[in-house]
Amino acid sequence: MTTATFAKGLEGIIASETEMSFIDGQAGILEYVGIPIGELAAHGTFEESVYLLWNRRLPNKGELESFSAELHSYTGLPAGMSGRLLALPMQAHPMHVIRTMISALSMHDEDPNSVDLDEVRAKAMRILARAPTIVAFFDRYRRGLPLIEPRADLSFAQNFLYMLNGEVPTEAMARAFDICMITHADHGLNNSTFAARVIISTLSDIYSALTGAIGSLRGPLHGGANEGVMKMLWEIPTLNDVEPFILGKLERKEKIMGFGHRVYKSHDPRASELKTLAKQLASDTGNTDLYEKSSKIEEVMGTAVAAKGIYANVDFYSATTYHCLGLKLDLFTPMFVLARLSGWSGHILEQLADNRLYRPKAQYVGPHDAPYVPMDQR
Ligand code: ACO
Repeated sequence: MTTATFAKGLEGIIASETEMSFIDGQAGILEYVGIPIGELAAHGTFEESVYLLWNRRLPNKGELESFSAELHSYTGLPAGMSGRLLALPMQAHPMHVIRTMISALSMHDEDPNSVDLDEVRAKAMRILARAPTIVAFFDRYRRGLPLIEPRADLSFAQNFLYMLNGEVPTEAMARAFDICMITHADHGLNNSTFAARVIISTLSDIYSALTGAIGSLRGPLHGGANEGVMKMLWEIPTLNDVEPFILGKLERKEKIMGFGHRVYKSHDPRASELKTLAKQLASDTGNTDLYEKSSKIEEVMGTAVAAKGIYANVDFYSATTYHCLGLKLDLFTPMFVLARLSGWSGHILEQLADNRLYRPKAQYVGPHDAPYVPMDQR
């Protein structure tokens, strides 16, 4: 007999408190510490958003400068990490690479297991700074190109694109990437964030918690959906093929990647931000066909399944955006990691500040009093 509530997939269950992001799934609202995501995307920077999430207030000019300077000062990898990276199989998926290398960073930390809040915060800063270097180094290594050392004078967004492509990006490209980072930074108790909080609640360590979170994010029902969106866009030959393609998939009960959300049932405000970005970038980079196909898919889905509360989510237009920024398909989900490391770390700090071990129950549905049958009688 149990009096506990059973909610498959923990749907609708509130399992922790947060001061970082507020989501109203019916109204399509996302706020970081009370500030609408659209405001931050229009006026803020990624560094500023991370400061906001970690300190629960916007920084003044001096605070932002010193926070950014500190973050940018850690972009270099510890001695030995580059060698480890260059020993990885070139064909490895960058999500496996980043998961492995974030875990490996723990071995370059003299006190990886500390759960002292100030120390965890310092670790979070260093991990966030180094993650773009890991992804850019791996991508250049597999392309047979020389590695480009990070530049502390560049912003998070500029520096990543610089290390990846070998040239400082245009202002428009860096701004677009920065907006992607802002919109992906935090999102309540999503699956990967929950994974991070569950792991740290055993008083494990930030490296283990982030490694687990990256593993969760990789799945196609979560952050991995942006790869699926791009594959779908490539699979649809022309604009005229969109409708039969989508309707055929729905008929076969197949899911359309980049649509639907456990929380948003009207619209995902991040998708609106990224749609505007994707439209502009597609036109600037000669990829209008991708934007037009995406827009048509949204239209077809709107007629076919909007009644079920299924709308484009953050992954839908981020696919076109990343493609237009020149990123390879398998780097799409790692971009989500670069941004979400900030949210995960903020949640790890929140969890540690007021920890209670996560330990839900399972509803046992098997037999009772079963006989132990001797081996020779089974
Ligand atoms: N395409 C077609 N039908 C869908 C989709 C979709 N993308 N999403 C949900 N549905 C349908 C389901 O088939 C189901 O229909 P039914 O009632 O006729 O059986 C109904 O809508 C409810 O679907 P659930 O999967 O139960 O809804 P849930 O809230 O659990 O789903 C999820 C959320 C997992 C994200 C789902 O919408 C999905 O699989 N989407 C595709 C993958 C994706 O884009 N993931 C990224 C999410 S955003 C993020 O994590 C960053």
